[in-house]
Amino acid sequence: MSKIYNWAILGCGRIAGKFASDLKLLPNANLYAAASRSIENAQQFANEWDFEKAYGSYLEMLNDPNVDAVYVATPHSHHYEHTLLCLNHKKAVLCEKAFAMNLNEVNEMVTCAKQNSTFLMEAFWTMFQPSFTKAMEIVNSGELGALKIVRSDFAFNAPFIEDKRLYNTSLGGGSLLDIGIYPVFAALTSLGVPKSIKTFADFSPTGSEESINMMFKYDGGEMANLTSSFATHSPIQTEYLCEKGYVVLNPRWFTPTDITIWKEGGEVSTIESKHREGFGYQYEAQHVMECLDAGLIESPKMTWEISQNLMEILDRIRIDAGIFFPEHDKNLFF
Ligand SMILES: NC(=O)c1ccc[n+]([C@@H]2O[C@H](COP(=O)([O-])OP(=O)(O)OC[C@H]3O[C@@H](n4cnc5c(N)ncnc54)[C@H](OP(=O)(O)O)[C@@H]3O)[C@@H](O)[C@H]2O)c1
Repeated sequence: MSKIYNWAILGCGRIAGKFASDLKLLPNANLYAAASRSIENAQQFANEWDFEKAYGSYLEMLNDPNVDAVYVATPHSHHYEHTLLCLNHKKAVLCEKAFAMNLNEVNEMVTCAKQNSTFLMEAFWTMFQPSFTKAMEIVNSGELGALKIVRSDFAFNAPFIEDKRLYNTSLGGGSLLDIGIYPVFAALTSLGVPKSIKTFADFSPTGSEESINMMFKYDGGEMANLTSSFATHSPIQTEYLCEKGYVVLNPRWFTPTDITIWKEGGEVSTIESKHREGFGYQYEAQHVMECLDAGLIESPKMTWEISQNLMEILDRIRIDAGIFFPEHDKNLFF
């Protein structure tokens, strides 16, 4: 039988609440501690989601020997710092995407996990959605012939608020690291690391990237056509275009969703999602606990290599598009 794991939340913002509500669905997860920069926020969050403890500093929570696993839910600009802090306190880490600001930071996080023999995984929840897994199975089965083109988008019209996370470059603002990372993930997990990348980007008054179009080209002639934006809405779907048909992960493709399939000579068919409860964050949290049960420090599914490849591609996109984060780019890989 699985151990009951004491989970802590580091950074009690918007996504932390959604994650906590899904954590409640898992019998082997105990909602143990909420840690915030302010005790009032920690207390309010702990009350709302039934955590046993509230800490007014991240460090105080990390000094609690009863904490087993920490969900890092701060802005991407702080993932590197907060992940290292957790790992150096020997706490298992599930850290939100984007995993960090650049590849150098990701590499140091991985090194730190190895040095501390402590679990580390990027919280790329799409990897664990049953619908994403099923779509990948169909694409990889070869029944539709070779995959040639991936089209993926993620856009929503986000009100321009200068100092908020989405538009504030010191917090990693811009659509790319926040939502563009999903279409890039769709291309990476189906076609791999591209040979060449071409981009067009548009910028907000703060200098943060607001919209980006990305084209990837691969050795075998395959292509990906990817979009993210805070200036418009989009269907938020992913299309895998193959020689003999296509597979579509329907809107909102990165969450539990239906799949549409068409094969030459046949009718369009739909595989309906069986997901019924929660947002879909429970699948990644369950996976973390299975890894911990097995004594692993790296997930066999959302591996460090996938996170490293994803960040390397994001770095290359940033260089091509001229997207810079002055407070972090001293570490930029290229
Ligand atoms: N997987 C998903 O579906 C998903 C969805 C949305 C966001 N995310 C990711 O989750 C992360 C957080 O996003 P969010 O939308 O939850 O952000 P948010 O609402 O702004 O919350 C971030 C929290 O981080 C803490 N924090 C620590 N240092 C901070 C600083 N200097 N400035 C602002 N906040 C700071 C704050 O919590 P305290 O004040 O309590 O310390 C804040 O509430 C991002 O990396 C984002 O990409 C993932």
